[in-house]
Amino acid sequence: MSEKIRERIYADNAATTPVSEKALAAMLPYFRERFGNPSAIYSYGQEAKKALEHSRGAVAKAIGALNNEIYFTSGGTESDNWAIHSVGALKSSKGKHIISTAIEHNAVLRTLETMQAQGYEITLLNPDKNGQIAAEALERAIRHDTILISIMTANNVVGTVLPIEALGAVARRHNIIFHTDAVQAAGHIPVTVRALSVDLLSLSAHKFHGPKGVGALFSKIPLTLPPYITGGGQEKGRRSGTENVPGIAGMAAALEEGAENVPHTAPYLRALRDKLMDRTLKIPGVYVTGDPVNRLPGHASFVFEGIRHSAHVITLLNEAGICASSGSACSASSTEAPHVLRAMGYDEEIARSALRISLSQYNTEQDIDRINEELPRIIREVRHKKDGPLG
Ligand SMILES: Cc1ncc(COP(=O)(O)O)c(C=O)c1O
Repeated sequence: MSEKIRERIYADNAATTPVSEKALAAMLPYFRERFGNPSAIYSYGQEAKKALEHSRGAVAKAIGALNNEIYFTSGGTESDNWAIHSVGALKSSKGKHIISTAIEHNAVLRTLETMQAQGYEITLLNPDKNGQIAAEALERAIRHDTILISIMTANNVVGTVLPIEALGAVARRHNIIFHTDAVQAAGHIPVTVRALSVDLLSLSAHKFHGPKGVGALFSKIPLTLPPYITGGGQEKGRRSGTENVPGIAGMAAALEEGAENVPHTAPYLRALRDKLMDRTLKIPGVYVTGDPVNRLPGHASFVFEGIRHSAHVITLLNEAGICASSGSACSASSTEAPHVLRAMGYDEEIARSALRISLSQYNTEQDIDRINEELPRIIREVRHKKDGPLG
């Protein structure tokens, strides 16, 4: 990682991650020397096409899929939209009932709202206090007209890793299409589509040290999604638009690297995270949010008594050179309590104090020592200054 990034402690990796050296190196040739359009038949085009198909193979291999089950998209949001809208269109003659959870990212929740306005019925399962969804709860929600189940692999706000294998097995037993938003999980924990027995899975490159604005949708054969974006017929006619070749090459390199390194990075991150959590939990009136055991390796999240809004804490952390967030990149500046914590049973007031510290392999033990030094001081300071603008 470059010196410029190292000056500050970046601890908001669930929001986005810096591009890895390998991902950057994989991207660079496709901006200039090999800039061709993959649909062109001359050599520039064919070079780009080769990169595209090589990348498809690498993404497929990293998640245990077949090459022709991978479609490139503009990111997690598009993949989620595509999966949900397409299954709706594909199966509307069978039924119009969709099951999801109240803790999904807005890329799923807002899409489901759109579907609802079009006459689909949506059941949102509420998680338990750890952010978990039980297979039995899913089983109970299934109806004869259920056409899709969409449940995230890991939650972005509280880091809970959900039991996708068990939930997917329920869907399979009932012959219902199962989609998982694996945006926070891929590259951080093992994600293998066959082991999870999912039909559709969303990925986003910028969450695993790839570039922004590129992602993928896994769609299991023989499921045939209808075209989502129409035009020049790229991605086997299902997602038109000239492919983001540099981005795709960067995503493939980043995912390959991330998935390969999970056996080393996961225990390393767990150790850093536990050190951070142990110290933070010694502050009076602090609670861990999310599952204390089944959680993303680098993900720590808390709520604090006596803090009316985490924006104050985040601002002071920033002044101390530490980048952290409230738990959702989309609502970082809003005063709205994260919907995830509300769904988990936290009241509005405590939910507003949510703080997320999400680490990557570029964080060091010294970073944790510094956070452990600054955070207790900042919490004390904010609690004493309750009459501030947000306090
Ligand atoms: C769980 C989850 N799903 C989807 C998204 C959206 O992904 P993208 O930023 O690639 O559109 C995010 C990003 O914050 C996320 O955390």
